Amino acid sequence: MKRGVPESFRAFRVHVGDGSVRRGVEAVGPDVLPDHDVVVRVRCSSLNYKDALSASGNRGVTKEFPHTPGIDVAGIVVSSRDERFAPGDCVICTGYDLGMDTPGGFAEYVSVPGDWLVRPPPGLPPEGAMALGTAGLTAALALRRLAAAGAGPRLGPLVVTGASGGVGSLAVWLAARAGYEVIASTGTPEAEGLLRRLGAARVAPRQELAERTERPLLRGELAGAVDTVGGVTLANLLKRTAIGGAVAACGLVGGAELETTVFPFILRGVALVGVDSQHAPGEERVAAWEDLGRAWSEDGEKVRELVTVVGLEELEEQVERILAGRTVGRVVVRPWREGTW
Ligand SMILES: NC(=O)c1ccc[n+]([C@@H]2O[C@H](COP(=O)([O-])OP(=O)(O)OC[C@H]3O[C@@H](n4cnc5c(N)ncnc54)[C@H](OP(=O)(O)O)[C@@H]3O)[C@@H](O)[C@H]2O)c1
Repeated sequence: MKRGVPESFRAFRVHVGDGSVRRGVEAVGPDVLPDHDVVVRVRCSSLNYKDALSASGNRGVTKEFPHTPGIDVAGIVVSSRDERFAPGDCVICTGYDLGMDTPGGFAEYVSVPGDWLVRPPPGLPPEGAMALGTAGLTAALALRRLAAAGAGPRLGPLVVTGASGGVGSLAVWLAARAGYEVIASTGTPEAEGLLRRLGAARVAPRQELAERTERPLLRGELAGAVDTVGGVTLANLLKRTAIGGAVAACGLVGGAELETTVFPFILRGVALVGVDSQHAPGEERVAAWEDLGRAWSEDGEKVRELVTVVGLEELEEQVERILAGRTVGRVVVRPWREGTW
């Protein structure tokens, strides 16, 4: 029995048959939710690249279908067997298994273990939390990792790749706020104005970092990078990072392989740091949300400009857009028909 869940609620469901994928908004019952300790009424969710993969029937993300994607949720607890949470509490849930094999936030309700939940930091409303979502958490974790590696703004500019995307645009915003001279690398020239308003000092064409070179090192002029692209781009960023700098590897939109020599590491002490928002440990996750809450309170208006708000019915179109690399900024999903941004 999932207390607080009505007999029927709406969800964006994905069905996978013999080579075909069918998806859309359906009425479902409490039986689609697992029996975890905390039931949350979803106030909003957000669309990430991983959600689009799940919505496409990608078995690397979701093994069992039918399924409800949505790796991000901000909402209100409606029932809890976990003594840390009570009905009425505001909570955020991102990562872990949510939206992968656990029904996710593209629905009016989710059921999750208490360990997956964080409380929103002061000054961060649910809509703000989802404007940031996993993308913002990833960007905040990347910047924390760069700072811990000693790659501060005094070493030189910081490159952000895939800059017009979710992780990229929020990394531009957070890095500029942290005092870096930010170079936004993008394949979307029309995003230049937006990236400059988020704090980019320079906007560079994606191609600049995409050329393969046999040279083991290039001019070491960067403090480092937040990279969402991988492949040749990541290898080139390592070659261009200054002594003591660091590169945070976040994504693979350009390729999963990495061909490098050891020279950036042994001749310049460059650090390659990984970012995994899905399994980030509790303390680091809470600290990153606190960074995001502060940034939102002081400067959230800039991020609002990045946001498109959609209902469940509009998700289909948005899934197609993100798969085609045509999403600029962030898509916040509001499963309930009432309420405003
Ligand atoms: N490590 C983690 O915890 C974590 C968390 C979230 C996401 N990710 C990963 O980070 C990456 C970005 O995720 P996202 O949610 O920000 O996705 P997104 O909103 O779709 O943004 C991806 C951006 O990458 C650029 N891009 C697209 N295709 C490209 C290509 N072939 N080569 C180079 N650049 C390309 C585009 O930006 P421009 O046009 O501006 O270049 C695009 O907007 C994905 O690989 C995702 O899986 C990782």
